[in-house]
Amino acid sequence: QSKTIYLKDYRAPDYLIDETHLTFELFEDHTLVHAQLVMRRNPELSAELPVLSLDGQQLELLRITLDDRELTAADYQLSDSHLTLQPTQASFVIDSTVRIHPESNTALEGLYKSSGMFCTQCEAEGFRKITYYLDRPDVMSKFTTTVSGDKQKYPILLSNGNPIASGSEEGGRHWATWEDPFKKPAYLFALVAGDLWCVEDKFTTLSSREVTLRIYVEPENIDKVQHAMDSLKKSMKWDEEVYGREYDLDIFMIVAVNDFNMGAMENKGLNIFNSSCVLARAETATDAAHQRVEAVVAHEYFHNWSGNRVTCRDWFQLSLKEGFTVFRDAEFSADMNSRTVKRIEDVAYLRTHQFAEDAGPMAHPVRPDAYMEISNFYTLTIYEKGSEVLRMIHTLLGNQAFRKGSDLYFERHDGQAVTCDDFVKAMEDASGIDLTQFKRWYTQAGTPRLAVSEAFDATARTYTLNFTQSCPATPGQSDKLPFVIPVELGLLDARGNDLPLRLQGEAAASGTSRVLSVTEAQQSFTFVDIAEQPLPSLLRGFSAPVKLSFPYDRDQLMFLMQHDSDGFNRWEAGQQLSVQVLQELIGQQQRGEALVLDQRLVTALRSLLQDGRLDQAMVAEMLSLPGEAYLTEISEVADVEAIHGAREFARQQLAEALFEPLWQRYQANREVSKGTPYVAEAEHFARRSLQNIALSYLMLTGKPEVLAATLEQYEACDNMTERLTALAVLVNSPFEAERGKALEAFAEHFKDNALVMDQWFSVQAASTLPGGLQRVQALMQHPAFTLKNPNKVRALIGAFAGQNLVNFHLADGSGYRFLADQVITLNALNPQIASRLLAPLTRWRKYAAARQALMKAELERILASGELSADVYEVVSKSLA
Ligand code: ASP
Ligand code: ZN
Ligand code: NA
Repeated sequence: QSKTIYLKDYRAPDYLIDETHLTFELFEDHTLVHAQLVMRRNPELSAELPVLSLDGQQLELLRITLDDRELTAADYQLSDSHLTLQPTQASFVIDSTVRIHPESNTALEGLYKSSGMFCTQCEAEGFRKITYYLDRPDVMSKFTTTVSGDKQKYPILLSNGNPIASGSEEGGRHWATWEDPFKKPAYLFALVAGDLWCVEDKFTTLSSREVTLRIYVEPENIDKVQHAMDSLKKSMKWDEEVYGREYDLDIFMIVAVNDFNMGAMENKGLNIFNSSCVLARAETATDAAHQRVEAVVAHEYFHNWSGNRVTCRDWFQLSLKEGFTVFRDAEFSADMNSRTVKRIEDVAYLRTHQFAEDAGPMAHPVRPDAYMEISNFYTLTIYEKGSEVLRMIHTLLGNQAFRKGSDLYFERHDGQAVTCDDFVKAMEDASGIDLTQFKRWYTQAGTPRLAVSEAFDATARTYTLNFTQSCPATPGQSDKLPFVIPVELGLLDARGNDLPLRLQGEAAASGTSRVLSVTEAQQSFTFVDIAEQPLPSLLRGFSAPVKLSFPYDRDQLMFLMQHDSDGFNRWEAGQQLSVQVLQELIGQQQRGEALVLDQRLVTALRSLLQDGRLDQAMVAEMLSLPGEAYLTEISEVADVEAIHGAREFARQQLAEALFEPLWQRYQANREVSKGTPYVAEAEHFARRSLQNIALSYLMLTGKPEVLAATLEQYEACDNMTERLTALAVLVNSPFEAERGKALEAFAEHFKDNALVMDQWFSVQAASTLPGGLQRVQALMQHPAFTLKNPNKVRALIGAFAGQNLVNFHLADGSGYRFLADQVITLNALNPQIASRLLAPLTRWRKYAAARQALMKAELERILASGELSADVYEVVSKSLA
């Protein structure tokens, strides 16, 4: 039913669109779109004039002319995806008028309405739902856009570029014309019309140009914009300093909308954001939300160069802009906050979610070579693994050569639509480093394994590390060639100091932390002048997205936790220690034995808690045990109940054994929080994160003083970070009466704030107490819930299926049935959201036979449920293949 599109079939466009002149007439029950396209035959192709095939979906064609000649039905062919006609000259103008229905567009793609305002989402292929067009990123055009609408309902009329004219019409209507001087593909088009307020600021660029910055929101949210504005100014400055990139229009606008499929969209000069990625203030948004706003504002702003000025030739190259831009925003966040903590969070996320994608039926390379529905390829692989690929290039080239490479890339390709190969070529040309083999990261899917063994020779005073790399088969790729794996490492002596590193054949030692390139399936590196058996610290900073194994014992891991000079690897040693301890508990649980916690974990965490010199955020990260989803990902066959039981047992034991130091740290931090107004900065994030993880452990003891402290924090705090933690702690506690009261009070207080209510839904959806499914079903009836709002779907159903693993994977299959029902309903409303929601069911191979059968049965049921969108069909059919 759905057809597969292949990279190998790419052909340059037959025709180009030099100018695009759009007029939108917005009405309550329809919208008219007039499009004038100034076109010509692609001069790089032959002089013949092939048939012109314009993309268009769900459009009602009212009128079309070719060079002022009105066409009749005999002059063109219409299908539900194309309008085809025969040009007679090399240059021509097409004028069309179509009627569309944004007011009933629930897919949130193309032009749609959200909370009474008009807005657009055109990436990847939404523009074809607005007008007949060559909707492909390698067709770049200069746009002018006129929007007309009711003056009262839509006082603000926006599009890309600069405003050039406006006026009133009869009947209470008005209009505005915008001109974007930069050529752009249709996916970067945007239009907004609504009753919006804005916060305005200024930014002076490197070359002293003044740019007006505006963030538009619904009036009631005008008090939640400052953080995004601050983040925008920091981003603009950072991109000038770190990449030499300056903003290029006179105005930069962000608009917040409530109904949005993704996080945000980098439309030229007019970014449209999910309100969850713009709005933030202490009382209503957590620390995590503040950091997310900062990161997403930066991400979209950075796209102005990495995405807009230089864009993708075709959608197989999506990671060209996304991987690069995620890498850029990650470095920005690292510079604004704690670099190590940011790295830890990103790696934990990658290993839990992207590694699972790499091991599942939708596994694909960073540059895929086939897809049915491109919306399904806005994935963790394209974004997060793509960013890791960029990070490795940065590691291999070094900072200076990388910057030279990015300068060359932007200079060489400004105004063009290019490929990942073009990007790598610029990096090679600027650095003189050959990246031919490295490019396998773009073409081979799957997470490489890197097994490491050691050999110390006391007589020869040499220490050898032997690396063996492999990569499991993924759909369509059974055999893989060796990758280039940059391994940053150090060697620790018995006191925990880094040894000077000198490889065999080198004249002298250089450095104590170095990057080795592992390029062969098996490869050894020998260090000389090594007097005593060292302990290796491998893959520092997670220098490559691989699964590394080295036979550390637990004492060695404890040693690394204390002494490794690399902060990331101190955390990593703690994670590996926890994984070993938890896997032992899982085994005991499976064999029906009494659970016994290795006390070394208690000792290690106690010394962290007692060391007042450590960064509190690091201590908090180290106290967080690997999540159930990560433990699932690293299991051969995931035993849902044993994983949950083992992890909860460990948390309980730690809470009891470490009660005193946890209580001390909690109280000390809460005291500071009480006396400090909320600040969204790293040091304050750190204090609250330790305070809050301590509280969640403490509550496991059920002591009355902890309940009292939780209630105090819940009621007296001045910010959502502390309040939501206290609520979550109560929700997962045995104190039923207090839980009920807090939930009720919270909902009453925040009922008019959709984003806060999302948090309220999520906290309950993630509660692992028995009866999770029934609670979620009941919450779906709550007046604040609707399937039409993606944030609500993610907050309640997504959180349940993705985070509440014991309840979702209930052995009777009720969780699977529930999710499949929601997917079937959403398939008709919003295919993109339906397709994303179903990801947990695609992981069926991870489970034992009984669960596999139940999960597959639900996938089959979805497949048989009737008219499936391409989005859902692709994921379901590939999962069953
Ligand atoms: N290009 C967007 C982003 O990565 C995603 C989208 O809305 O399509 O921010
Ligand atoms: Zn992006
Ligand atoms: Na405070």
